[in-house]
Amino acid sequence: MKKIIIAIDGYSSCGKSTMAKQLAKRLGYVYIDTGAMYRAVTLFALQNGFIAKDKIDTESLHQALDTCHITFRMNEQGTPETHLNGENVESEIRSLRVSSNVSPIATLPFVRKHLVAQQQLMGREKGIVMDGRDIGTVVFPNAELKIFVTASAEVRAKRRYDELQAKGQNVSFDEILKNVQERDYIDSHREVSPLRKADDAIELDNSHMTLEEQDEWLMQRVSIFF
Ligand code: DC
Repeated sequence: MKKIIIAIDGYSSCGKSTMAKQLAKRLGYVYIDTGAMYRAVTLFALQNGFIAKDKIDTESLHQALDTCHITFRMNEQGTPETHLNGENVESEIRSLRVSSNVSPIATLPFVRKHLVAQQQLMGREKGIVMDGRDIGTVVFPNAELKIFVTASAEVRAKRRYDELQAKGQNVSFDEILKNVQERDYIDSHREVSPLRKADDAIELDNSHMTLEEQDEWLMQRVSIFF
């Protein structure tokens, strides 16, 4: 199987991860969820008391960052799960507490530098599907295939709401929508690596697409490489 790099960028909760995960499985590629890495650093900062009353103690976080080890391990279903210093944190990093604090953490240049270097190492052998915000622009500007995914904020909030409800987490739709909109704003307005479509990325708006339609769209773009 030919090995290429597939970069999938876009707004939060637009189904990037599900799409990237399935694609990697189908191609026998490695899947890396870079959002999970920013979330794991956020959890690390919360656990160590580096975030208090919405203020980040950046100096302490910077100093401690080398002791924040993020790895992905396959579960029994063959899906990668995020581990922070050996502990499975896959569920905890999706909580509203982490979601509400992750954007400011992701704006910190030293955090981005640290994680981007790890992501580039993970992709050095190619054969990888990586999703995030800056994969096609910063991490792998030479990726063979770049996809930029969008959907309306309301559609995305509804998807996240359903996901959290299914997990028994009781949160209001309005709170989620506000969180999605706030993250969109911070993600696309931050100074370092703001979310933007790479010039050579193909845009996919999946607001009104079924999963089957999206899958067909994707396979048409992927198949030209094989
Ligand atoms: O994809 P996600 O919602 O799990 O991402 C969590 C946060 O991390 C989000 O606020 C954007 C940020 N992020 C980033 O800045 N760069 C990436 N490559 C991936 C995520």
